[in-house]
Amino acid sequence: MSSSPGSMGSSPDAQSSSPDAVGSPPGSVRSSPADSGTPSAGWVLTGWGTALPEKVVTNDDLASYLDTSDAWIAERTGIRERHVGGTTAELAAAAGAAAIERAGRRAEEVDFVILCTTTPDQMVPATSADVAHRLGTTGGAMDLNAACAGFVYGVVVASSMLQAGLRRVLLVGADTLSRITDWDDRGTAVLFADGAGAVLLERSETATGLLGWDLGVDGSARPLLYCDHGGYMHMDGREVFRRAVRVMVSSGRTAMERAGTTADEVALCVPHQANLRIVEAANARLGIPMSRTALVMDRTGNTSAASIPLALADAADTGRLSPGDKVLLCGFGAGMTWASAVIEWHG
Ligand code: UT7
Repeated sequence: MSSSPGSMGSSPDAQSSSPDAVGSPPGSVRSSPADSGTPSAGWVLTGWGTALPEKVVTNDDLASYLDTSDAWIAERTGIRERHVGGTTAELAAAAGAAAIERAGRRAEEVDFVILCTTTPDQMVPATSADVAHRLGTTGGAMDLNAACAGFVYGVVVASSMLQAGLRRVLLVGADTLSRITDWDDRGTAVLFADGAGAVLLERSETATGLLGWDLGVDGSARPLLYCDHGGYMHMDGREVFRRAVRVMVSSGRTAMERAGTTADEVALCVPHQANLRIVEAANARLGIPMSRTALVMDRTGNTSAASIPLALADAADTGRLSPGDKVLLCGFGAGMTWASAVIEWHG
């Protein structure tokens, strides 16, 4: 099947009204073309890139004026230092440009930009417009705000767009939480930071890309983590911690089930980098050892929507991923939102 941006695919599956097509549970991705004999609407991840501000703030820097210590922060969160500075658009464009270059593509070849962020630079317009301008893309751009689960929401949205006929979607997770953090509040200042990570997803006739997913939200939990216009982040850390472990386990399990896979078959888990203890507790229940878990929070802190692509890129750069690997992405955040996806690595 040939397709072009904006044109709908002509796969029988896409237009079918068979009970299978209608009745499949959300999150179950239809069988691969090799099984079904129908054209694929999958994708391959062809490039990745990251951007971190130059300024580094260590735990000792925070302890120099806050009632905290390097030992407390490292032990209770796993964070040792974080990067702070820049705007969301600057960081997102830098990460996006690196991903496009790594894929060997030009900006004009990108059909759509999805910017996952909870810290847009302005109310209007969407920060993705600025990112598209900086990169030189014109195909379409939008912001997606699902807090720290945003990047995994973005993977599912990008997959749908590629199924609808787009050829290349640049998916960026970027946040500048330092701008909405009260640096005198030790409950949040020790956690939050700035950064960006991006991937280029390209439509493929042979690969599946997204194997299974789960998205969710519990809007009654909004008061646990919020920031009003012009204000700072407020968080009930203990309650967020408790719920985070719960939703990562249930959502991760659901995504793996829908992907038809098990924890043993997952080559790498890339969790939201919020707190090492959350990841340890969730992964123990999921049956995924820490040796198969990507971690960068010691160097990055919690960068919200950027945290999963930062950890994914680090794993790729350090040779922890091979073609065909199944990778479990698992995020949660304000809302509360949660999202898990099993993807196939072809980078
Ligand atoms: O992106 C998603 C959103 N965020 C998260 O995922 C964060 C989830 N929550 C957490 O990561 C943890 O709850 C925190 C790191 C925020 C706090 O760790 P905790 O182990 O849950 O600490 P706690 O709130 O239960 O407090 C334990 C003690 C308290 O002292 P007392 O009452 O036992 O004397 C706190 O006052 O630690 C004290 N404390 C601190 N001490 C030194 C709280 N924050 C600090 C601090 N430095 N920064």
